[in-house]
Amino acid sequence: MPIIAPSLLSANFLQLDKACEMLNNSEAEWFHLDVMDGRFVPNISFGIPVVSAIRKATKKICDVHLMIEEPQNFAEAFQQAGADILTVHVEACTHLHRNLQQIKSLGMKAGIAINPHTPLDAIKEVIAEADLVCIMSVNPGFGGQKFIASTLSKIEKLKNIITQSNAKTLIEVDGGVTLENANAIVKAGADVLVAGNTVFNSSDPAGAIKLLKNIH
Ligand code: DX5
Ligand code: ZN
Repeated sequence: MPIIAPSLLSANFLQLDKACEMLNNSEAEWFHLDVMDGRFVPNISFGIPVVSAIRKATKKICDVHLMIEEPQNFAEAFQQAGADILTVHVEACTHLHRNLQQIKSLGMKAGIAINPHTPLDAIKEVIAEADLVCIMSVNPGFGGQKFIASTLSKIEKLKNIITQSNAKTLIEVDGGVTLENANAIVKAGADVLVAGNTVFNSSDPAGAIKLLKNIH
């Protein structure tokens, strides 16, 4: 059974309390929080105060996905805000190994996110240092985009790399996950499914989470 990480990006921002309440009572284990800076990605979402407010509204795992330049400058602030997992983009990190060490030394789990065009070779050498790899299955910046089909073979390749290196790294898949493609994504090797649109634009968000959860 996959871990489900609904993305708050697709929630109604005027009613985040209701979104948190729904998630708290759902089968989702993680809250996926997408932070964007308008530089690394062509969009701006929310930042530290919102993460901090959500932290207070849940006991579930806060999975913070940083789509920002120079994430090392903000790791401590996100730790203070209550992030349990901090994921940085390989494309935004000149010294990725150091960035992962920094995140772990602050007591958080460290994740690497990788864009659709970036080959897995870019992260192979540091796989064992990462608690999580977030494979982007859309170009980051917006919710509600279409899943890029070639991601499936990328997940399989990553799964092999992780198994061969005897690592415990989780594979998270982010972008365009639906009730229709979730099965294939899990079969390819995903451990964690991020879902924004599929959860929050459903007439029954908790029901959609349940359906995703029961995929195997
Ligand atoms: C995209 C974000 C995703 C997004 C997923 O840049 O990283 O987490 O919220 O949304 P859906 O599931 O709607 O593609
Ligand atoms: Zn994300």
